[in-house]
Amino acid sequence: MAADTVRSASYGGVTEPCTVVLFGASGDLAKRKVIPAMYDLAVHNSLGERYAIVGFARTPMSDESFRSTVGEAAKGISEVGPIDPAKWNEFASNLFYNAGDYADPGAYTDLIKRLASLEASKQLGGNRLFYLSTPPEVYPDIIQQLGKAGLAKPANENSWVRIIIEKPFGRDLATAKELNKMVLGVFEEKQIYRIDHYLGKDTVQNLLVLRFGNGIFEPLWNRNYVDHVQITAAETLGVERRGGFYETAGALRDMIQSHVLQLTSLTSVEPPASFDATAVRNEKLKVLQSIRPYDLEGVAQAVVRGQYFPSTVNGKNLPGYRQEPGVNPSSKTETFVAMRVLIDNWRWAGVPFYLRTGKRLAKRTTEIMIQFKRAPHVVFRGKEVEANRLVLNIQPDEGISVSFGAKRPGTEMSIGNVTMNFSYREGFGESTRSAYATLVNDCVRGDATLFDRADSVEAAWSLVDPILDVWSAAKSATVPQYEAGSWGPRESDTLLERDGRKWYNP
Ligand code: BG6
Repeated sequence: MAADTVRSASYGGVTEPCTVVLFGASGDLAKRKVIPAMYDLAVHNSLGERYAIVGFARTPMSDESFRSTVGEAAKGISEVGPIDPAKWNEFASNLFYNAGDYADPGAYTDLIKRLASLEASKQLGGNRLFYLSTPPEVYPDIIQQLGKAGLAKPANENSWVRIIIEKPFGRDLATAKELNKMVLGVFEEKQIYRIDHYLGKDTVQNLLVLRFGNGIFEPLWNRNYVDHVQITAAETLGVERRGGFYETAGALRDMIQSHVLQLTSLTSVEPPASFDATAVRNEKLKVLQSIRPYDLEGVAQAVVRGQYFPSTVNGKNLPGYRQEPGVNPSSKTETFVAMRVLIDNWRWAGVPFYLRTGKRLAKRTTEIMIQFKRAPHVVFRGKEVEANRLVLNIQPDEGISVSFGAKRPGTEMSIGNVTMNFSYREGFGESTRSAYATLVNDCVRGDATLFDRADSVEAAWSLVDPILDVWSAAKSATVPQYEAGSWGPRESDTLLERDGRKWYNP
């Protein structure tokens, strides 16, 4: 299937001059995602004609060594394609670095001097974006120091100050509320951009376009026609070098509370009045608030956790989660979660949404599968007709497919299941863009539609909190184990089998 028009990758237009201060600039996320995304924006003229990026972290480094460190790291990043050396050099001349302790007021005095000098020499006009890409433990220090240094207020009446805060935003409802309260004591809500990079993915935004930009899907998108929905976010990698962090998180906090609930809410949301920050976020909040909360019994019935054990995949010996560096050898942290979610509203009453995510699963894929109800009456006597499925492949083979029954060629009336596929790469002649670039660009243009508001972050935590409570109270319970390269523990299949259904394993 080909698209009618082929456009080149673009972001949301030219922006005003600005300075980005990237906290945690020597960390993995900054080097692998945020800085390459900014390079991509610069190459597409979407960071404005004049800009500066000031890295801020504890590691002492000169501007020059910061430029070469992030330059080396950016080379292997496929999301933005091959780096053009000349364009990189041009971009790197706008990179600067300030070392400092996040809690040290003196470091912010130095930062103010650096900002003033760059703003004057590059005529940046005072627009400032603070990007928190540090471990969450230091968010409070940075936010408070920014406030005390007077950096949360615009430098002049024509300029803006915004702050991007990375996930995890809190580690449960209480800490998320505390963080919201603290950040709202320093910044106004309209300055705060809580980022979930899944919302920057083209294919995730396409959920809204598919549903609300076409006339043929939405009439079917409800309890009258949909049997159930499955949302899978599966990874083949293990926890890699992040064992220490993962021990404090687990799949429920790391993936379900954020990315998977975002996918759930965009799949189920009501049409917003318009595509703007308030309208879209109001509707998303409503659907999160309609998800039936779990009680003790609900967690036991509808939520499954798991942990991968050592195994051999394609001749390679892979460690189990408990053998990963930084992980407690008797850890109970879950690397897999599957759950059944019910949305108590008119559109979805009685339609289960099955969600699952995990590390070291059989295939890297994020997809949403809508299974429709079967034809109410099959006129072809004695023939089995499968239910229709609409599958949205979010990554890595971005596309959409629809399956339906068709008559097999021949004299017999025989029915086969066939699939109609749309591939982003083939349809638009190019791959999708970097999610981080899209979101940073939205932020510098002041568009918060694809960022989270305080109320919806808290609503998402309210849903996972009871599960965390049950698990932490069940100290003696064992965590079901699963083999690396599988689709998770047996209990995950049982969850659907009890409802007479099974997982759609791509
Ligand atoms: C991050 C999680 O938010 O998302 C990681 O902390 C996970 O554990 C990652 O691997 C997945 O993102 P993506 O874009 O690769 O699907």
